[in-house]
Amino acid sequence: MRQWFGLVIAALGIVLIGVSAVALSQGILSFTVVGVVGVLAALIGVILWVVDRRKAKARSSVGGMNSQGGVLTTAVGGRTHVRGIPYILPRDLEEMNRLDFQHYVLRQAFRGNFLAPIENPSAILDVGTGTGRWAREVATVFPSANVIGLDLNTPPMDEQTQGKEDALPPNYAFVPGNILEGLPFADASFDFTHMRLLVLALPHDRWPYVVSELIRVTRPGGWVESVEVPADEGGGPAVDQVMSWVAAMLQRRGIDLADGARVGALLKSQGLVNVYSRRVEVPIGVHGGRVGKLMAADILNAMQALRGPLESLGLTTATEFDQVFAEAKRAFESPRVRCVAPFYVSYGQRPN
Ligand SMILES: C[S@@+](CC[C@H](N)C(=O)[O-])C[C@H]1O[C@@H](n2cnc3c(N)ncnc32)[C@H](O)[C@@H]1O
Repeated sequence: MRQWFGLVIAALGIVLIGVSAVALSQGILSFTVVGVVGVLAALIGVILWVVDRRKAKARSSVGGMNSQGGVLTTAVGGRTHVRGIPYILPRDLEEMNRLDFQHYVLRQAFRGNFLAPIENPSAILDVGTGTGRWAREVATVFPSANVIGLDLNTPPMDEQTQGKEDALPPNYAFVPGNILEGLPFADASFDFTHMRLLVLALPHDRWPYVVSELIRVTRPGGWVESVEVPADEGGGPAVDQVMSWVAAMLQRRGIDLADGARVGALLKSQGLVNVYSRRVEVPIGVHGGRVGKLMAADILNAMQALRGPLESLGLTTATEFDQVFAEAKRAFESPRVRCVAPFYVSYGQRPN
């Protein structure tokens, strides 16, 4: 039941109490009953409101999924995080805006949304779709393909357009799911399975399973593509310091940033053919021109997003973080510092 229902009943009760008070003051005694009903309604309304508030609080404070299948969240350093998963970045509007921004920068840096040689696909899957921006764009490029974006969290666009589905490409749909628990699709369902930037979410020992799931849902002859990035390189002492804090936090969750560079080898070892793997250095900072400046804004934003978890784990303090962050920002503003994000793009084909 919604919290406002209790408030409406209580408000109705108060109105009845008022009406009965006016009537009684004019000597109309029969309105005593209206007053009693008003008092009861006000009491019941307040009780309903309190009970619903408590239920809502309980839903947001227990780990796992709530009874409606939505994700449960917790606040760390003023940012909202999903509970009960290894993923370290927040899940709030600020992070959704960062992911959209990052998507546009990457599309420009890579000159497109994918590298695999896809031809006339009829079904495409994007695992860990984030804001769903990639999936929706690819849906407009292949209007005859069904494109599914899968994530733990519903993208804001899908939430806002519920009941107004024509605001989204007609061949796009969001499906909730947790890749660590397996993909909710039959074998050989997709011609193209894509996964980008899940390295902060997947423990080292789960990568073989995750890759096997990507391959399982891909049709023979279809393609699997992965885009990941291990630690930024060449940013100087402050950037290295942030990277080592992040690595220490990830280690506690069994996550190894270096796995981002190993996906091509996994695709090969799990039987894909025509495997292609390439390292693409995307510049961060003014040395990289427009893309470099946009990447710097994205990385600084991501560092701020991790500040709360780093502090709460005792890996740094507010003062130390501010100092190191300011130094990292200065490094990105110096043309002498040639920091790069070493992306690894890998794709391979499921044999016929
Ligand atoms: C860094 S974002 C990347 C989003 C998108 N792929 C992109 O490139 O813009 C990682 C996404 O993975 C999702 N995620 C984390 N753990 C997941 C899991 N176990 N199963 C499914 N999605 C997960 C997060 O909710 C987040 O949207």
